Amino acid sequence: MGANARRAVGVDIGGTGIKAGIVDLDEGVLASDRVKVPTPAGAEPADVLAAVRTVLDTLGVADDHSVHLGVAFPAIVKGGRTLSAANVSDKWIGFEAEKFFEDGLGRGIHFANDADVAGVAEVRYGAARGREGLVVLTTLGTGIGSALIYNGVLVPNSELGHLQRAKQKGDAETYAAYSAMEREELSWEEWAERLQWYYSHVEFLFSPDLFIVGGGVSKHSDQFLPLLDIKTPIVPAVHRNNAGIIGAAALALG
Ligand code: BGC
Repeated sequence: MGANARRAVGVDIGGTGIKAGIVDLDEGVLASDRVKVPTPAGAEPADVLAAVRTVLDTLGVADDHSVHLGVAFPAIVKGGRTLSAANVSDKWIGFEAEKFFEDGLGRGIHFANDADVAGVAEVRYGAARGREGLVVLTTLGTGIGSALIYNGVLVPNSELGHLQRAKQKGDAETYAAYSAMEREELSWEEWAERLQWYYSHVEFLFSPDLFIVGGGVSKHSDQFLPLLDIKTPIVPAVHRNNAGIIGAAALALG
């Protein structure tokens, strides 16, 4: 990183892990090691805050208020409040989360949905850069997150992991997230059948111009993307599982 590079810190809170790094915002890459701790069982607000403090401590920025901080969270985020809770404690529903983190960390933060910030990272520094039309980024992890980006502008809080499969069959993410593959010990081929259903459904609903696939499993995209038969081009996120950290940091600086 150049001595004068703009930097900010990004924290990406997920259903399974909390990841953080210092980001070089000129290049859109990590300028530090990536730090990760498990998401505390039950993901209660106080425990998540303590875990965020731990990752900031490890990065050596817990008390460095000169560096901007962005925090991404796996829920609908509107006006600083979390309005849903799929893979975290129900206490987050209707919770003043941004203020809670700001008070607890003793500093201002930028707070947003995890998939949305991954979308921002891919627009600024990755697979969606310069793309016209509708880009749908999905993250395949504990849940399925989504970011809708139209002509480079994010339409926040799309929540396409909660598309319903059919009456009483439940959320798409319970069936097709990466966690479903792990939980049910599916082969790549078996999981790809579920993704085939998911992406063709989203394709029919939105007619996107590009799909981007993020989440940790995107580093193995050659195992499952070639198995999908859809019309829309589908590519892995350039920043793979770091897109959340990079996007959170990018938004922190504006
Ligand atoms: C949440 C989304 C989140 C996604 C990925 C879903 O269960 O509802 O807000 O983006 O998981 O973490």
